[in-house]
Amino acid sequence: MLNKRTDKIKITRRKGIVLAGGKGSRLLPLTLGTSKQLMPIFDKPLIYYPLSTLIMSGVQEVLFISTPHDLPSFQRLLGDGSKWGMMFNYAIQDQPRGIADAFRIGRDYLDGEPSVLILGDNIFFGHGMQAVLSHAETRSGATIFASLVRDPHRFGIVELNANYDVIGLEEKPAAPKSHWAVTGLYFVDGRAPDFADEIECSSRGELEILSLLNHYLQRQQLGVEILHRGYAWLDAGTHESLHQASDFVKTLQDRQGLLVCSPEELAYRNGLISIDRLAELADEQKQSTYGEALMTIVRQERDDLSKR
Ligand code: TTP
Repeated sequence: MLNKRTDKIKITRRKGIVLAGGKGSRLLPLTLGTSKQLMPIFDKPLIYYPLSTLIMSGVQEVLFISTPHDLPSFQRLLGDGSKWGMMFNYAIQDQPRGIADAFRIGRDYLDGEPSVLILGDNIFFGHGMQAVLSHAETRSGATIFASLVRDPHRFGIVELNANYDVIGLEEKPAAPKSHWAVTGLYFVDGRAPDFADEIECSSRGELEILSLLNHYLQRQQLGVEILHRGYAWLDAGTHESLHQASDFVKTLQDRQGLLVCSPEELAYRNGLISIDRLAELADEQKQSTYGEALMTIVRQERDDLSKR
């Protein structure tokens, strides 16, 4: 994650999409009353984490997609983005038609531009994540991010050759050809909505993201960034993983005294908001330890600035 010494990120014209609908059936009864992506991961809502990854990738405009029922809660939480120097838009997915559906829903919003899609329950953490994201930004076609998993039959899996080129994609294979899982972060070019229109629903009734990515693979335009040892990729889809993710964030923050995936901090470090704006945001939340942590950043930054 970013720290004080990290250089500012180049803002890109790539637009971000956070897909934050779904059924959340593995989290019942928690998801009877609210969306999975609004659940707390220690001190902040789950959706802050994928949003932070987008900010780190240099995105300034984001489309949030959720269910008709939950979308107003996201709008209440996040607003139009201006408080963080960003531009947020919202769209409804009326049925959980699959991940690739995000590009059909987002077609007009994207208007032919490249984009980065992230699943609303995916958390990425690791020193150097910034460099990995910047590298993906320079590629043409599409880029996926692969992470090692112990139980590959539960994931979408990418098969790689010795040079780490993608040679195949498989959804939840019975006999997996690798242990590299395709994570919920996808950089695509402006053709993604057209490819999404061409794919058909799978046997489980979803527009599969791997089917869309196969269009790029067939054209030899699918790259991969490897999240080696030292990167954490967590999804918060089950009670167990929700709890583990909270524990992970709490442990890191307690030990290091640094926030993990704070959009306010990242917006400041990327030049989207000023130190005075960050101070206002901290002040509005000063009753919580989260607000206190932001205030500590403000004090340290002002101290550093006064020495320059
Ligand atoms: P999943 O975890 O695959 O599905 P889910 O959230 O509906 O949960 P469950 O399996 O427990 O019923 O979804 C991954 C992420 O993608 C999650 O953040 C929800 C989102 N999603 C959508 O918004 N729309 C969709 O159609 C699908 C399939 C997923």
